[in-house]
Amino acid sequence: MINSKFYLTEKLPPYVFASIYHLKQQAVENGFKIIDFGMGNPDSAPPNHVMEELSELSKNPQLYGYSVTGGIEVLKKAICNYYQRRFGVDLDYKTQSLATIGAKEGIASLATAISDDNNYICVPSPSYPIHTFAFVISKSNVVHINAIEASEFLQNFKNFVEKSSKKPKAVIISYPCNPTTQIANLGFYQEIVSFCKKHQIYIISDIAYCELYFDEKDKPSSIMQVKGSCDIAIEFSSISKSYSLAGARVGFAVGNKNLIAALYKIKSYLDYGSFTPLQMIASSALSDKSDEYLIALRKLYKDRSDYFIEKFRKDLGWKIEKPKASMFVWAKLPMQFSSISSFDFCKKMILETGVAMTPGSSFGENGEGHVRFSMIRSTNEVDEAVVRLKKIFSYRF
Ligand SMILES: Cc1ncc(COP(=O)(O)O)c(C=O)c1O
Repeated sequence: MINSKFYLTEKLPPYVFASIYHLKQQAVENGFKIIDFGMGNPDSAPPNHVMEELSELSKNPQLYGYSVTGGIEVLKKAICNYYQRRFGVDLDYKTQSLATIGAKEGIASLATAISDDNNYICVPSPSYPIHTFAFVISKSNVVHINAIEASEFLQNFKNFVEKSSKKPKAVIISYPCNPTTQIANLGFYQEIVSFCKKHQIYIISDIAYCELYFDEKDKPSSIMQVKGSCDIAIEFSSISKSYSLAGARVGFAVGNKNLIAALYKIKSYLDYGSFTPLQMIASSALSDKSDEYLIALRKLYKDRSDYFIEKFRKDLGWKIEKPKASMFVWAKLPMQFSSISSFDFCKKMILETGVAMTPGSSFGENGEGHVRFSMIRSTNEVDEAVVRLKKIFSYRF
């Protein structure tokens, strides 16, 4: 019989949303209509001009051929113009920018490009799963740095580098953070750039949520704003969350020329770029100077998280900290459930109430004891979720 044990896939745990998906199916079979706070899958319509443009472009038969690895010129220019407008940073579109299929694919391809089994890569815990698994899949050694706040991460990362014999090749940072919603200021970026320059460590930054902030004083920075960061840093972002285009996703990377060239080389073996019309609408979204869409989207996520937190506090007694950015709420498990794992908590909630959320442990061991809610449901659905949850909460916190 042919051997169907595959070393890598045997080693990988099931992806978080795959396990949750099966639980949701079970709950549906038991008669529940699922209220899903699980995946960070935007429910808003993308900007109108983007949908109209895509509709027009889709009628052009000449756009259905293979596109270009690393993105069409128009998109690369739009990415660099966006960085100039948003962060005041000048980049050379030819050597310092690259379009990817999504930020997730970009990070995974970069991991393939720079990995070898002697490498150590520092990854925060908790963090977006691909930050870890891109390097697990490409056979680097992942070292988790436990931290919730950015300052704590910096301290723990520095301690590791200074005390360990394992010299990291690269470190991942990602603020606003999925799942914790923590933010980092420019001072954080300045400090990590200066430390990593001294120790010759590459920095891989992921700012997929940089447009989803709720107060001007918390407006996220880019590592590219730090002078000299291009010597050691690459930064990924995406239109998935900023313009609610997750299904028509296009990501991008900017920064260090050697990392961009390595990423390009790997991608030239793997893909010919996204469907050209998607790259064209990504260019239009990034070039929209009015910011009207973003302002409305920030307000939507802020209003939703405010409502959600207040409702959970008042009706369930579940006290949750307000996020300053992102599209998530990160909540410590209520006291009476603190003896069960976050996965078991989510399982119980899905199977007994049909309310779905994501266990903190799926973002790394240090996410245990927490759950993540995506702010993608209406206030009516939040109300209904609370009615259902109330039935199994004992109100003693
Ligand atoms: C931190 C972070 N980076 C990147 C992504 C994915 O971006 P894309 O849709 O461009 O692959 C996500 C999606 O959840 C994310 O949370």
